Amino acid sequence: MKVVHTIHHLQEAVSDFKKQHLTVGFVPTMGALHQGHISLTQRAKAENNVVVVSIFINPMQFNNADDFKKYPVTTESDLAMLSEAGCHLVFLPSADEVYTAHEAPLVFDLEMLDKVMEGEFRPGHFQGVITVVNKFFNWIKPDKAYFGEKDFQQLAVIRKMSTALHPDMEIIGCPTLREKNGLAMSSRNRRLSEQERKDASVIYESISLLTELKSSLDVSAAKNQVINSIQSVQPFKVEYLDIVNADTLISLSQWTESSPMRACIAVWCNEVRLIDNVPV
Ligand code: PAJ
Repeated sequence: MKVVHTIHHLQEAVSDFKKQHLTVGFVPTMGALHQGHISLTQRAKAENNVVVVSIFINPMQFNNADDFKKYPVTTESDLAMLSEAGCHLVFLPSADEVYTAHEAPLVFDLEMLDKVMEGEFRPGHFQGVITVVNKFFNWIKPDKAYFGEKDFQQLAVIRKMSTALHPDMEIIGCPTLREKNGLAMSSRNRRLSEQERKDASVIYESISLLTELKSSLDVSAAKNQVINSIQSVQPFKVEYLDIVNADTLISLSQWTESSPMRACIAVWCNEVRLIDNVPV
């Protein structure tokens, strides 16, 4: 496994692959890798000749300076896990390599997709995500790129950007990997105490109930029941719970059979913000 830090070396390595007519699968990450990231890498390896993974904590997508500062960095173990997973090339750039000074975000209209849910509570977040991912796509030009359903809204945003700017590239959505207790794996889980990590199982447990609740309660009553059951466990505080159309992410006030629905949630556990989602 080769590790490169500059765009020049990245493009040199990728062009070597392409000269050999090898297909390239790409997995962008911010490091602090867990099995969720590794499952994306393994999927990319199964579907392409070579796998490129980026590790870059993208400052432009953090609307909260403290979250950025406290984002875990575990480069040595990340590289060991990627090597073990059979990754071929890791791109590990500095912020100066990726951005020029005071660079503005990519101008791209995400329409409603960055106004709701995460977009409402993390202004500028998705513009920062598509700015960096668009750069990576331009530099690597992969055949396929892999993203987790864990970040359901991010996946929708990437699909929209990619359809317009990278129409030949395939975006593959991959299922959420969970801890044994149901908690969605996340780099931010490292910031939870052992007890909090155990108790956080209430999030997945409660949102999973929506599939049953929809037969007896309306959307608003079902949401209230889920929010109450999560908030009955200290110190969890629900920031939002939305039932949305899984394609448009438009919030639903009534259950519908005509299109797939998704329940998306953000929960604070003290200073740590956790997100999750399930089909309903
Ligand atoms: P990061 O949070 O490191 O996640 C990298 C990829 O791993 C994303 O596509 C994410 O959805 C996926 N992922 C995270 N947890 C997962 C889980 N439990 N199961 C399956 N997949 C999971 O998302 C980002 O980084 C950044 O926004 C990025 C796309 C790299 C742009 O900076």
